[in-house]
Amino acid sequence: MRVIALERPDDADAFFEHAAALLAEGISPEHVSWSVGDSADLFGAAIPAPRAKWRGEKLFAAALLHRAAHRFALVYRALWRTDGDKAWLDNPAESDLCSLRKLEGEVRRDIHKMRALVRFREIPDGYGARFIAWYEPGHFTLRANADFFVHRFADMRWSIVTPDLSAHYDGEIRFAPGGSRRDVPAEDARDEDWRTYYAAIFNPARLNLAVMQSHLPKKFWRNLPEAQAIPALARAAQTRAQTMIAAPPTAPRVARAPARAQTTATGLADLRAQLASCEKCPLHREATQVVCGAGPSNAALMIVAEQPGDHEDLCGAPLVGPAGKIFDEALRRIGCDRKTIYVTNAVKHFKFTLKGQRRIHAKPSAGEIDICSWWLHREIEQVRPKLIVAMGASALRALTGQSFSVCDSRGKILDLGESRILTTTHPAYLLRLQDEQQKRQAWRAFLDDLAQAHAMACA
Ligand code: URA
Repeated sequence: MRVIALERPDDADAFFEHAAALLAEGISPEHVSWSVGDSADLFGAAIPAPRAKWRGEKLFAAALLHRAAHRFALVYRALWRTDGDKAWLDNPAESDLCSLRKLEGEVRRDIHKMRALVRFREIPDGYGARFIAWYEPGHFTLRANADFFVHRFADMRWSIVTPDLSAHYDGEIRFAPGGSRRDVPAEDARDEDWRTYYAAIFNPARLNLAVMQSHLPKKFWRNLPEAQAIPALARAAQTRAQTMIAAPPTAPRVARAPARAQTTATGLADLRAQLASCEKCPLHREATQVVCGAGPSNAALMIVAEQPGDHEDLCGAPLVGPAGKIFDEALRRIGCDRKTIYVTNAVKHFKFTLKGQRRIHAKPSAGEIDICSWWLHREIEQVRPKLIVAMGASALRALTGQSFSVCDSRGKILDLGESRILTTTHPAYLLRLQDEQQKRQAWRAFLDDLAQAHAMACA
């Protein structure tokens, strides 16, 4: 019996080299035992054998990342068989092929889950902010995912710690042994954003716990800040849905305008699904993801900001970064619950220029605003708000198709027939003001505008 102890559980190349040497010697699968770890029994003749690419190698490499202990034996048997007769790989009923496909599918899903469910927490270290996440993958998928995270979070210094392996990025990726949940802070300020966002998009009438758990298995809940909200939302869902059903039908709040253009979207959910693959302009290429509007589909008040910033691009929700904090504080001051309003952007993808590792926000061009305004108008058709607040010049252009000065329009109602628009400054403008007195005046005016809009739409 040949005993092969691989050093790492996720090193398909090392496995293939051992396998090539074994095949060259004619060692049949039943005479090989595979394990990971202690290299004391390392296969003596493990001189890497030069090898050509194997047919089915991508499938084999993915299956090797599975946690199932039989994966090595299965893949070696597949290679052994392929050495003689490659045709068996074309027979979909072959049981080895089915087993390999099953492992591969589970690994691919695990890779995608990690991309969606890693949640970073910020910790200060000697060089500024570092972002660290604790994650428990189902399989050995961290190394296979590293390029994705490097590309997505190129401007951050980050670490992803899993029980098997850690990845650390400081301009270059480095792998180290796994860690424990205690290595990562339990909470940070962003967690509340996740919960707010989740509560805002949660639709009690659509709750289906079985489907939810198939998308988001319970084992992931303990590491997801937003998952803490699920039990309470789920408990309240039935009552909320019954209240919705029992409520008398409401008359349209305003005379609804006819649709400006034909849309195939039947609701906001469809619209969001279509938006996810938008390639109407080149901005989708560099952005991490599209950032859709968020809020109830029957909101009386719609807020239109400019475009997602760095934070929004990373977490996929509008106005959750520094400008979002100002906006939230303003809502708190005027007594408006963000969950009752619809918040969106004129442009749905982040635009930036790279400065070293940092992604610096770049203003959308008039052309980009005009192209993306198609989506904004579809959102308006779906939500049909009583009033729209345009925060800043980009929002105003997207809504009107023309360039107006915010200074001249601020605080005034623009009646476009099908929608009424109140213009105010963008909260990022308040952040940029240096002079204290100007800042106070601009803040006051911003609060007044939002209070007026809230009163008009929601009174
Ligand atoms: N600025 C915006 O205009 N929108 C966002 O979502 C974030 C920052």
